[in-house]
Amino acid sequence: MDRLRVLVTLPLFDEVIDRLSASFDVDVSREGILAEPEALARRAAGCAGLLVSGSPRIDAALLDACPGLRAVCSMAVGFNNIDVDACTARGVLVSNAPGVLTETTADFGFALMMAAARRLTESEHYLRAGRWNTWRYDMFAGQDVHGSTLGILGMGRIGQAIARRGALGFGMPVIYHNRSRLDPAAEAVVSARWVDKPTLFAEADHIVVVVPYTPQAHHMVGEAELGLMKRTATLTNIARGGVVDDAALARALGEGRIAAAALDVFEGEPQVHPGLLAATHVVLTPHIASASLRTRRAMADLAASNLEAALGVGPTPGRPPTALNPQVLAARPC
Ligand code: DGY
Repeated sequence: MDRLRVLVTLPLFDEVIDRLSASFDVDVSREGILAEPEALARRAAGCAGLLVSGSPRIDAALLDACPGLRAVCSMAVGFNNIDVDACTARGVLVSNAPGVLTETTADFGFALMMAAARRLTESEHYLRAGRWNTWRYDMFAGQDVHGSTLGILGMGRIGQAIARRGALGFGMPVIYHNRSRLDPAAEAVVSARWVDKPTLFAEADHIVVVVPYTPQAHHMVGEAELGLMKRTATLTNIARGGVVDDAALARALGEGRIAAAALDVFEGEPQVHPGLLAATHVVLTPHIASASLRTRRAMADLAASNLEAALGVGPTPGRPPTALNPQVLAARPC
């Protein structure tokens, strides 16, 4: 029987490619992420499976151009780039990579929040520019993290992991806003208190945004929310570009309406709003919150396991570990 063909749409660990090559004919986009729609459709034509990251748009047009596709497996936890309903309607299994990146991403979110509060990158740029010639009592004096109120928007796995760091490690009272409240036992672990969104923005000293991107979450943090924040407060976004209105944030920073911000994700990334690039009180990183080598490998391995299982090979054929629409497998002829 002919081996199935799969496309890995980004350069990836050799070990993961070797593993997939044991079962499939593997094409790898070694030159970079394959996200341009026409190029992706051309290369994916004739493939049964795709291994993707959080960027290429997987929509009805791509699926219709690639009728042989049976699985789209992402190594990202966020799957706003994939039209899951369109995949389900065409019997295409979709998976993401939850769980394996929780702690690593929470570490980075916490680091960004601390960097913004304590003006870490701003002061480093000053030093590197050769401008440090004295010590002053107020030089780069920022905001305390320990004991300050931590506000979390979106209290899923990563939000809870950040809450644990704040409450247990830094003695921070934790408030959060989420569509659904945690059960009381989970709230008790971090003494977290659910509040409505305006209260979160008005009361928190440091706000971390970790809500998944959906159309409803678009610009969930905009002019109105920023206007409620304390002048001494910071905002950190590790969710997705588009959850925060970057133009409104650049204005708030430029006018000194909030103390500082830290962003790992941007609207229209890898482009960054010029107002953010010009602002000094903002820490900017290129979407690397989950980027430890061990975690990136675990994400890639999980995507590979899903791809194998969705295409009927590997240790759990027919049972992809983190499928988003497992019902499509039940509907497939044996
Ligand atoms: C994720 O896993 O969603 C990260 O943001 C990487 O895309």
